[in-house]
Amino acid sequence: MARNNGAVHLTDDTAAAAAALAAGHLAAVPTETVYGLGARADDPHAVARVYAAKGRPADHPLIVHVRDADAAWQWASTVPGFARDLAARHWPGPLTLVLERSTRAGDFVTGGQDTVAVRVPAHPVFRAVLDELAAITGDPAVGVAAPSANRFGRVSPTTAQHVEAELGTHLASGDVILDGGGSDVGVESTIVDCTGPAPVILRPGRVSHDDVVAATGLVLGEHSPVRAPGTLAAHYAPAARVVLVDAHEVETADHLTDDARTGLLALEHVPTPPGIVRLAAPATVDEYARVLYAALREADALQLTRVLAVAPPPDGVGAAVADRLRRAAAS
Ligand code: TXA
Ligand code: MG
Repeated sequence: MARNNGAVHLTDDTAAAAAALAAGHLAAVPTETVYGLGARADDPHAVARVYAAKGRPADHPLIVHVRDADAAWQWASTVPGFARDLAARHWPGPLTLVLERSTRAGDFVTGGQDTVAVRVPAHPVFRAVLDELAAITGDPAVGVAAPSANRFGRVSPTTAQHVEAELGTHLASGDVILDGGGSDVGVESTIVDCTGPAPVILRPGRVSHDDVVAATGLVLGEHSPVRAPGTLAAHYAPAARVVLVDAHEVETADHLTDDARTGLLALEHVPTPPGIVRLAAPATVDEYARVLYAALREADALQLTRVLAVAPPPDGVGAAVADRLRRAAAS
């Protein structure tokens, strides 16, 4: 099934997406974390169009997505043992490793840094695209450079419809949006810097601090000299103002006294006070992550001016949800 909406082609045909990428067009692709806006990672013109479509500064590096760990290591010059341990335990999956780059990784993908970020995604639809692209190009280590498919600084998309709403007018004839259903994890991959003596988490995600410790047997580093420019304080922001509150503060009157149209995002056990729009009532931290970005989009669709958000406990992906809410609130 395919639909042509003006210039942009919304499809569920993985071969069409692979052919578009091979020809130097862009393909928005489903991943288990969020949708990405992909380009061949060895094509400077295609990658430049990704930056233009997102409105993203050129020094913000992209993640290179590949089929398997062997392909990933082709993009790196050095791979420490703990990076191999992480890959063995969590790839394919929501984990990105930052490594010293090989000559495959051009400045136009790394933002001029000497490191490269690589990930082997688990989503079967994206994996099919990577396999087909490898067959077309004859390169088993072929990479797809893909940032989240949102305009710079905005909320990441977790459905093909979100991508179309966000980037439809910024894509061109020949580009495609590949529909692979809703993203299961819902927040972006865990990024681990593997260029020092011990792993350092640069961005929390579904693969937790404890998961990284368990996979590597190492004490994690706290600070990294590596720059991850997308991890700015203000990010993941809807138009509505996000205010982080504790569960007991939700019901206090001072939130209700002005005329703001207010939404609430909290685990289901937190009750909804009168006059407030419940945006989501997830039962678990996993569900919280899965519905988070759609709920923030819903706040804007309803033209709410404020979202009260109660962060979940920091277990598992809860730490990543709290991280994204903090950044959304900093905007
Ligand atoms: O789940 C995800 O990671 C999604 C899906 C599409 O894979 N991608 C994603 O990409 O979130 P993006 O571009 O929105 O965020 C990538 C982050 C940015 O913060 C960027 O600075 C960081 O990865 N990054 C990329 N390459 C890096 C490098 N060489 N060193 C340090 N950070 C890097
Ligand atoms: Mg992003």
